[in-house]
Amino acid sequence: MWALCGSRGIAVNNLAVLENRVFYSVVQSINSAVILHNRKLEVIFVNDVFESFFDIKKEDALGKSPMEFLPEFDAKHREAIQARLKKTLKTGKKSPWHEFTYYSPAGNLRYLLAISIPVFDNHDKISHVMSLIHDVTIRKELEREVIKAAKLSSLADMAYTLAHEINNPLTGIKLGLSTLYKALRKPENIQVLDSVITDLNRIKNTVDAFLREKKHQIALKRCRSGIIGDIFEDVLFHLSQQMNLNHIEVKRSFCKENRPIVIDRDRLHEVFLNILLNAIQAITKKGEIAITTEIVFNQEDKTDSGRMLISIEDTGKGMNQGHQEQAFQPFYTTRQDGTGLGLSICRKHIEQHDGRVELESVEGRGTTVRIYLPIM
Ligand SMILES: Nc1ncnc2c1ncn2[C@@H]1O[C@H](COP(=O)(O)OP(=O)(O)O)[C@@H](O)[C@H]1O
Ligand SMILES: [Mg+2]
Repeated sequence: MWALCGSRGIAVNNLAVLENRVFYSVVQSINSAVILHNRKLEVIFVNDVFESFFDIKKEDALGKSPMEFLPEFDAKHREAIQARLKKTLKTGKKSPWHEFTYYSPAGNLRYLLAISIPVFDNHDKISHVMSLIHDVTIRKELEREVIKAAKLSSLADMAYTLAHEINNPLTGIKLGLSTLYKALRKPENIQVLDSVITDLNRIKNTVDAFLREKKHQIALKRCRSGIIGDIFEDVLFHLSQQMNLNHIEVKRSFCKENRPIVIDRDRLHEVFLNILLNAIQAITKKGEIAITTEIVFNQEDKTDSGRMLISIEDTGKGMNQGHQEQAFQPFYTTRQDGTGLGLSICRKHIEQHDGRVELESVEGRGTTVRIYLPIM
């Protein structure tokens, strides 16, 4: 029937032919697959969209039932489709919408939503059944994203409350230690206390930064790019004991050029600390961490003022592809005592500097974290 409509020789002086042509155009222009089955449920017509939805050529479907033309498809799903078509044929009623997943022969996953509609002949008898199939993959993915975003937002709220709770006793401890400080006279005791206070300040800064972040504040200051090396030295000093214990050798190669950059020193301190801690934790026995800073340019853009590339490369256990993709997700951790917040906080901080952070890892060989910061 619809196949006739394509032939050009027919004069459009007859309403039925015109209707057929209009229907044909509609069926070919909608973004849904249309399949027409005869009473034996064999396919007698499919529109062009059908091919792209199912990754099947029209010729491979024509004359066949769904049980035959979808050989790769899960038998349970094929039976459900067959049952839906049979029911429409028997009852003469539209089926309810039927959602199913489909893996094409090329391995692409689609979420499809289908309905069967009876087609009647001039004697009000069902002559055909039409399947109309929508692709709802994007909607499904968006739904999943919305659920994920809602979960993350409630976790962020929880973290905010937690930070508030931590903040109060921290203030008390800091005050107490300051009082003790005056009572201690021996230089070695003062040294220990100094280091405790430094660590405490760091925690306090982190908590404060987290609480501030909720209000989107970040204390950016104009500095010289050489400061990056200083911040690293600071962090490395803090981690020196852990590095020695794990027999880790650090190689530094800091760029000599001093270009203007705009940074929040405390935040970058936290970023480098998190990344170096991850590197230390990834090196189980003995290994090496190489820290490099350099100025890089986009060769194709003559006006590019460049950016600072900071690379932190370790010879630790590395990650497989799956772990790499999730490493920046909040609360993703493979360590028993991990929080899974380290890398997600790093990314947030770097993005607040208008920068970018990426990770490259080879399982069993090591990991490289690259941070790009803009140069003014
Ligand atoms: N340098 C690294 N080498 C190997 N795995 C790493 C490295 N950095 C991060 N990871 C992986 O990414 C996960 C998330 O890291 P992170 O966000 O810092 O959270 P945490 O350290 O609390 O687990 C880690 O649990 C680990 O599996
Ligand atoms: Mg970490």
